[in-house]
Amino acid sequence: MKDLTMEKIVNYCKQYGFVYQGSEIYGGLANSWDYGPLGKEIKENIKRAWWKKFIQEERNSFGIDAAIIMNPQVWVASGHVASFSDPLIDCKACKSRHRADKLIEDFTEGKETGDGWDNKKLEKFISDNKVPCPKCGKSDFTGIRQFNLLFETHMGVTEDSSSKVYLRGETAQGIFVNYNNVLRSGRAKIPFGIGQIGKAFRNEITPGNFIFRTREFEQMEYEFFCKPDTDLEWHAYWKQKCLDFLKEVGLKEENLKYRDHSPEELSFYSKATTDIEYKYPMGWGELWGIADRTDYDLSVHEKHSKTELRYLDPETNEKYIPYVVEPSVGVDRLFLALICDAYDEEEIAEGDTREVLHIIPSLAAYKVAVLPLVKKYHSEKALEVFNDLSKHFMTTYDESGSIGKRYRREDAIGTPWCITIDDETINNGTVTIRDRDTMKQETIELSKVIEYIKERINF
Ligand code: GAP
Repeated sequence: MKDLTMEKIVNYCKQYGFVYQGSEIYGGLANSWDYGPLGKEIKENIKRAWWKKFIQEERNSFGIDAAIIMNPQVWVASGHVASFSDPLIDCKACKSRHRADKLIEDFTEGKETGDGWDNKKLEKFISDNKVPCPKCGKSDFTGIRQFNLLFETHMGVTEDSSSKVYLRGETAQGIFVNYNNVLRSGRAKIPFGIGQIGKAFRNEITPGNFIFRTREFEQMEYEFFCKPDTDLEWHAYWKQKCLDFLKEVGLKEENLKYRDHSPEELSFYSKATTDIEYKYPMGWGELWGIADRTDYDLSVHEKHSKTELRYLDPETNEKYIPYVVEPSVGVDRLFLALICDAYDEEEIAEGDTREVLHIIPSLAAYKVAVLPLVKKYHSEKALEVFNDLSKHFMTTYDESGSIGKRYRREDAIGTPWCITIDDETINNGTVTIRDRDTMKQETIELSKVIEYIKERINF
């Protein structure tokens, strides 16, 4: 669809129950969003698809679910307490607050990202180029201050510094601290991977673009432990695997691209980092980061925890700290990409358009809708069918309004198949099954419906 705007997607998500504004009846909370009945289903399906691809189908792959609140020393060791921060700048004229690198990125329309620049370089660029404040248009800023993104809270009854803990800023650290546990209990051998899905929290200065950048979000992270000097090969392997996955879940190839980090932008410990970007309505944005993190994470945790985090190669008797390749993707960003990619407004006849979500059946919120043709005559049988199908799939039932209007609603929410229950069902045991994408209808035996749907979904 041409000219898809974020506003359209936000309204669509709200109207049909995918995503609502958080705490809406209290006037909302800035940039907080709640997933509604349809959004929750799609989100679970996304997570299931990722888990299948990265944990279930991958040999030597283990899934964990670590605590959100961890020993605060974890975040000291990882470097988050000292340097997980954004460069903050205030407009002296209108007092609005901005991320300095974001100001530059927007001003140069993405030609400069400011990533990896120190404060001096950012300040110089802003003053040399008279970068304007996006709110008031003046170019009169304070100096830059670093703003730490970790959310702090307190554990226990007192609120002194000894009780300070953090909400995790990424799920990855839960994996690193469990490296030894999984190695031992899983009898793992290098190379192997550990994945987890869970919430992460960042006190972002400039959240926005709907669920693209929020303060509370969900990540699907995978840490792949390998022998030093094999890391670049594995980096290439995971880059490809992630792109393949995105295409498998239905994203269009033309809306995806790799972006390699320049040497300037790379974290000091990383040998290579590539983002897979998606063409969102507001422009290209990072969807998935694939980073070669070398032996940085396990080394710092070994040092701070004073616990050996090495691997003893059973064949060569060599002992080393494994290198790590990390593909990390946000569930919410993938959700947004999938909705934007699948949403369409199609002209189906002169002057007649339909809203449709061409999401792949495996990810669709409902797999099938059961629709009695005439409520009075067919609802009893239709409810019987609903009871059978709902044991196998998320099934919806709708008996109100004309059949045409009910089809349209199912198209709009992405239900791949509608089953109409009519006299033929009662007399001959057949149903009409309608395909969302082609809008074609065929008659099949009711007893074959489950098999028909199962054949067409893969996770
Ligand atoms: N462990 C590495 C790590 O966390 P990151 O690039 O900061 O790397 C990984 O985050 C992914 O998490 C991003 O590619 C993005 O999909 C998602 N993500 C990061 N910050 C986010 C935010 N504020 N809101 C929504 N998703 C976010």
